[in-house]
Amino acid sequence: MREQLFRRKPAEMLLEEAATHAGGLKRALRALDLTFLGVGAIVGAGIFVLTGVAAAKYAGPAVTLSFVVAGFACAMAALCYAEFAAMIPIAGSAYSYSYATMGELVGWIIGWDLVLEYAVGAAAVAVGWSGYLAVILEGMGIHLPYALTHAPAPGALMQIDLPALLIVLLITGILFIGISESARVNSAIVAVKLFAIAVVILVGAFYIRPANWSPFVPFGWSGVMRGAAVIFFAYIGFDAVSTAAEEVVDPNRDLPIGILASLFLCTALYIAVAAVLTGMAPALKIDLKAPLASAFVMRGLNAVAGIVSIGAVAGLTSVLLVLLLGQSRIFFAISRDGLLPPIFSRIHPRFRTPYWPTTLTGIVVGLTAALLPIQEIAELANIGTLFAFVLVCFGLWILRRVDPARPRPFRTPMVPLVPILGVVSCGYLVLSLPLVTWIRFFVWMAVGMVVYFSYGRFHSRVAAAAAGDAAARSAASRG
Ligand code: ALA
Repeated sequence: MREQLFRRKPAEMLLEEAATHAGGLKRALRALDLTFLGVGAIVGAGIFVLTGVAAAKYAGPAVTLSFVVAGFACAMAALCYAEFAAMIPIAGSAYSYSYATMGELVGWIIGWDLVLEYAVGAAAVAVGWSGYLAVILEGMGIHLPYALTHAPAPGALMQIDLPALLIVLLITGILFIGISESARVNSAIVAVKLFAIAVVILVGAFYIRPANWSPFVPFGWSGVMRGAAVIFFAYIGFDAVSTAAEEVVDPNRDLPIGILASLFLCTALYIAVAAVLTGMAPALKIDLKAPLASAFVMRGLNAVAGIVSIGAVAGLTSVLLVLLLGQSRIFFAISRDGLLPPIFSRIHPRFRTPYWPTTLTGIVVGLTAALLPIQEIAELANIGTLFAFVLVCFGLWILRRVDPARPRPFRTPMVPLVPILGVVSCGYLVLSLPLVTWIRFFVWMAVGMVVYFSYGRFHSRVAAAAAGDAAARSAASRG
């Protein structure tokens, strides 16, 4: 059994999966689509909502530094993801990389952990989407009933966040129909939200009052770090690009471009937005729900606030799209390895999408968003993602040592410095998260262990192949 837990998925098996595509997922994406997918997943609730929370509660104007710190940690991780994604272009992303480098158990742990990033992240974003929609409708004089826009709470059990459920189901429908359609919808939405971000920066720059930047670090360095751990959420998503690996025409070349270009573009935009926002409004008075839009309202620019709100709703829509896409691809890859039931890797004969995991993910995420107090556990997405980043950086370093000759279409520069900086900076951000998030994280991972030891261990394809080889060898030696 020990042998099975640490058995690594052989390179040949991975490459065979990446190469054989008769009846597999449809390869339709190119570098620009991937960059747009990355931006689609990245720019969302983090910048449009959490910037306000991080500035007002933790970092003050130094939230700009929080973005630099979190951006640095992500850049280190992204450089490691880029090498892996080009070398092992498999839908499972960090799950597949860990399986190949650190064995089945670590692979499973990461696969299970990624549910926190993708599914919990998507549920949290769906609730944010519903909130921003309500703000826009209010502005138009339309008031949705409270009981239909909020999840049940103590003393108010007959409530549901209906818009959150509906948007998740709508996006699930698009993902069901096809990857090309999904990429087209995503690109259109990304254009709208990039326009909104450009408006924030270019218009907001004229309304900066430098006095708002002082004191710059009102809560000290620990506040900056806590702020970084919160707004880390804003960067989640560049790694989702790698889950589309089996739908890319030229994955070796285009995956590193998509991952790195989307992250660097968003980092630059975020730092600029944070500087403008904290220059426009006193950090401690920034609105917590719709900080960017309300900074413009405060200065009497209601029309600009309207554009920003529309950009936010659009932004959150594409985040949902890419996170749901990523989750279904990860389930697909895990199931193909036998660690989840085969239904999760069934491909639709006509649409060539993994329609079962897509549908199940959509229903579970939609109901979670509609019925549970998801905002309270949203930081689980941060801890889950950071944990995956740490293992990807670590795995890269291991693989360079144990398998230096493997062809690497993209090489992470300065190894081992970059992976070590990735481990240290992401690890430091994990440590800045509150204890309650850690406890929830461990509970989730314990559930994952039960699933593995009661199902995955007995159905692993890699284990079955190894057992088959061993049986063949012993038969040959007897014969
Ligand atoms: N980065 C994504 C967002 O901020 C998850 O919504």
